[in-house]
Amino acid sequence: MPKKTKHKTEYLCSSCGHVSLRWFGKCPSCGKWDSLEEQVHETPAAHRSAILTGPDNPVQLSTVDTESSESRIPLEVEELDRVLGGGLVPGGLVLLGGEPGIGKSTLLLQILMRLSRRGMKVLYVSGEESLSQIRMRAERLGTCPEGLWSMCECSLEKIQATVKELKPGFLAVDSIQTMSAPGISSAPGSVVQVRESTAIIMQVVKTMAIPTVIVGHVTKDGAIAGPRVLEHLVDTVLYFEGDRSHSFRLLRTVKNRYGPSFEIGVFEMTGKGLRQVTNPSRLFMGDHSNPVAGAVTVPCLEGTRPIMVEIQALVTPSNMAMPRRTTTGIDSNRLAMLSAVAQRQLGIHLQEYDIFVNVAGGLKIAEPAADLGIIAAVVSSVQEQPVPETMAMFGEISLTGELRAVGRSELRLREASRLGFSSCVLPKSGSSALNVPEGMELHSSPDIVHAMRCAGLLGV
Ligand code: TYD
Ligand code: MG
Repeated sequence: MPKKTKHKTEYLCSSCGHVSLRWFGKCPSCGKWDSLEEQVHETPAAHRSAILTGPDNPVQLSTVDTESSESRIPLEVEELDRVLGGGLVPGGLVLLGGEPGIGKSTLLLQILMRLSRRGMKVLYVSGEESLSQIRMRAERLGTCPEGLWSMCECSLEKIQATVKELKPGFLAVDSIQTMSAPGISSAPGSVVQVRESTAIIMQVVKTMAIPTVIVGHVTKDGAIAGPRVLEHLVDTVLYFEGDRSHSFRLLRTVKNRYGPSFEIGVFEMTGKGLRQVTNPSRLFMGDHSNPVAGAVTVPCLEGTRPIMVEIQALVTPSNMAMPRRTTTGIDSNRLAMLSAVAQRQLGIHLQEYDIFVNVAGGLKIAEPAADLGIIAAVVSSVQEQPVPETMAMFGEISLTGELRAVGRSELRLREASRLGFSSCVLPKSGSSALNVPEGMELHSSPDIVHAMRCAGLLGV
């Protein structure tokens, strides 16, 4: 009998990196259609072995030296240091993801210029732009410092050799989709290339303890080639996001081995690069001279950080069989659910109206604490009755119309008070134990009927 040959061909999902031995129309792991690509198995496993080096035998953990916190390199930009958990870590590998054109290269170049101005030797490897283009961008951002080295290269073999020779204090690779690893024939940007390239970069920077940032492009639907594979490999994952039609950008921590995750940093894109915004609440708040119907301000939390956000609603009579529920910045299913609750509990015939809800400034809110604000904005628009402009509201709404407590209420109240709000409608449960800022009047409500009355929307 002939010997069975081992499978040489495998099918790799271009979205999640799942490997299977036969082709499927739909990826069995992530469910994406038509994403499996055939390829000959060629991953050289040998060089992946020693990414982390250490003693062969187990040791008692209590005897292991920790890296002292002084070894962190703070960037001295508050918004950046917060998302990084205090600064760059030697040997720490950061993935900076974001849509093309959002400002990743700009942010990276600004970090590089900052570090090199402090006397550090830094290396910027670009597979996307020519040296003169990089120089032009650097000039736009300020004067080009001496310690900033740059190379246009896609071959990781050469990059590896350069890094070993130059020994930079910080390395930036822009972008991982343009890099190609030695011995791999698939096209740059494919899952295998991206994964192998990252593994090689990782090996170099871990052994030489160089803090490194690699850029990964994300497509409109939020996928980097092999994003999940990359997220497992690197130490920190940051996403740079924002609405192209607005100038502000959010840098969001998705994963961090060296600090808190789910932090955000806020930046504004100006003619001279990115500028940090240390007081972002003003960005997302309305600026009305008179109170207007359909606008409610909610203290939302982004990571550990409170931001006052204005939610706007427009409710107009509908002549459609299926009235519209259109949202920007919140989930439209959430709006559908909240409208159903409002309809049942408050007796407002929302089925006859089109509802549009928008979050000011283009921010996206996922937390249920905004529920009360959304309902109040809708009711305020239907009744054409403004909510007092010094009043903020927050709280999660259950299907039965009750208000449920949300986390970190004190932080939210403090931010509201700091920005001049003098009253707040919030869930009753847990509100008696709160430390209330001076001058802030609390309206603790058990349910939405009570809450709407407090906001003057239902008559007393
Ligand atoms: P870029 O950093 O090239 O994006 P990415 O690397 O994520 O693809 O950002 C490009 C955009 O930023 C481009 O539309 C121009 C704009 N920009 C400014 O508005 N001001 C600036 O100072 C710079 C350098 C870029
Ligand atoms: Mg770029």
